[in-house]
Amino acid sequence: MTDRSFLHLGGLRDVQAFQRHLQKLQISIPCDPYLVSGDASPLAQPLRRGNITLGNRFAIHPMEGWDGTVDGRPTEATFRRWRHFGASGAKLIWGGEAVAVCHEGRANPNQLAIGPHAIDDLSRLREALVEEHNRVVGSIADLMIGLQLTHSGRYSRPNIYDRPEPRILYRHPLLDKRLGIDNEYPILTDGEIRQIIESFQRAAQVAHEAGFDFVDIKHCHGYLGHEFLSAHTRAGDYGGSFENRTRFLREVVTSIDDVAPSLTVGVRLSAFDTVPFRPDSKRSSPGKPGPGVPEPFAALLPYRWGFGVNIHNPIEPDLTEPVQFLSLVEELGIRLVNLSAGSPYYNPHLQRPALYPPSDGYLAPEEPLRGVAQQMQVTRTLKRQFPHLIMVGSAYTYLQDFLPHVAQAAVREGWVDCVGLGRMVLACPTLPLDVISGRGVQRKQLCRTFSDCTTAPRAGLPSGCYPLDPHYKESEEAAVLKRLKRRRTGD
Ligand SMILES: Cc1cc2nc3c(=O)[nH]c(=O)nc-3n(C[C@H](O)[C@H](O)[C@H](O)COP(=O)(O)O)c2cc1C
Ligand code: SF4
Repeated sequence: MTDRSFLHLGGLRDVQAFQRHLQKLQISIPCDPYLVSGDASPLAQPLRRGNITLGNRFAIHPMEGWDGTVDGRPTEATFRRWRHFGASGAKLIWGGEAVAVCHEGRANPNQLAIGPHAIDDLSRLREALVEEHNRVVGSIADLMIGLQLTHSGRYSRPNIYDRPEPRILYRHPLLDKRLGIDNEYPILTDGEIRQIIESFQRAAQVAHEAGFDFVDIKHCHGYLGHEFLSAHTRAGDYGGSFENRTRFLREVVTSIDDVAPSLTVGVRLSAFDTVPFRPDSKRSSPGKPGPGVPEPFAALLPYRWGFGVNIHNPIEPDLTEPVQFLSLVEELGIRLVNLSAGSPYYNPHLQRPALYPPSDGYLAPEEPLRGVAQQMQVTRTLKRQFPHLIMVGSAYTYLQDFLPHVAQAAVREGWVDCVGLGRMVLACPTLPLDVISGRGVQRKQLCRTFSDCTTAPRAGLPSGCYPLDPHYKESEEAAVLKRLKRRRTGD
């Protein structure tokens, strides 16, 4: 199911046709007409900043697989994914996947979580990635590997995949309803927050002992770290003023310094947001959600439940606080920043632009290239203001055949330091090396944004690229997924 009004990029003949398409749409995305390969490629250039050296400009974004054991340990499918990340040739592995710092903070019952076996499990995962990188690339020089640490907050589902057990910081007038939260539902106390901070500290120590170069204190996608930033209406030490809303980050960083002073810290941030979207009921039919529209917000102005949004028109970004946040990040001695946007739960068109919506989403409300351009422009704006931070950009996968041309131009023109890849590496793990070596992209393997990797977990199935990765394509789960999709659409 897709909205036919948007051009399929796979149908464009060449990069010139893509450039004309951008021009026609009046979308400003840099795009090089030719790719440079080998050592001269802008994407092959090392990046040195302080004590950090990255061997090239590709990064792999963290991506949960929903395939750990119930006690939070990796399975063979998890190892396989991490080996693919290593084989990609990217020299920055941003966190592998979100690992919950405690059981209650898991986003699904198969998410990796810090438990009694974590040091051993995580060091084996890391080693598998390093070994594969060495085998394929021939060297592990200037490879940097992090671990993304998370608490899922509002989106916690630690025990049963379709039973939300939200841990919330404040009452949200739009999101609470979606999770069946009423006014009696408990809000995390300041004391409970302090315990969560201790869990982050323990998890960082585990990551350090497991050999990771850095930990990411996740502040994106509607999970707990991100929710702190919009806790304007919360009373107490962790809500209200900007200082209070960023206390969580400061306390986590200080507590990590106490136990692992040599461990580098990074932050993945949803740099801007918008109000939650839902399918337009007037243009939806059973099993066929219409295009996304914002939830009505006129009665909620000034809007006090977002971060990086214009409070008078919350479907527009306002970067005033994200800039303040990045200044704080610099003050805390953090150099690694990965910029994302919004949330896959309530505005997926912004977070991961796609032609085909996930099962709990809606048809693209706008040309998906606009979502890509918006994330790239915001990153460019922030990069200009913070030249010393190492910035990783997101949402490049939708560019498909033209991802390499855009990535090369974006790095060459200084819009971003590293191009992060999410869905594209699930579909085509060799893309970074294909580009740098000049052997060209494997068109049949390119992610076409079918969203099955997001839909499958919504149905309690592992995530993976069902349409293109043979491991998933031929699995029992693929058959289940197909049946579910057919039943939903009645096709
Ligand atoms: C299956 C799946 C799992 C994801 N899991 C995570 C995660 O654990 N942590 C995170 O920060 N982002 C996660 N993301 C978001 C991606 O890191 C990335 O921001 C998003 O897919 C947009 O990048 P892309 O256009 O290259 O796919 C996930 C995305 C997908 C598709
Ligand atoms: S399932 Fe595969 S093709 Fe579809 S969005 Fe995910 S990675 Fe891309």
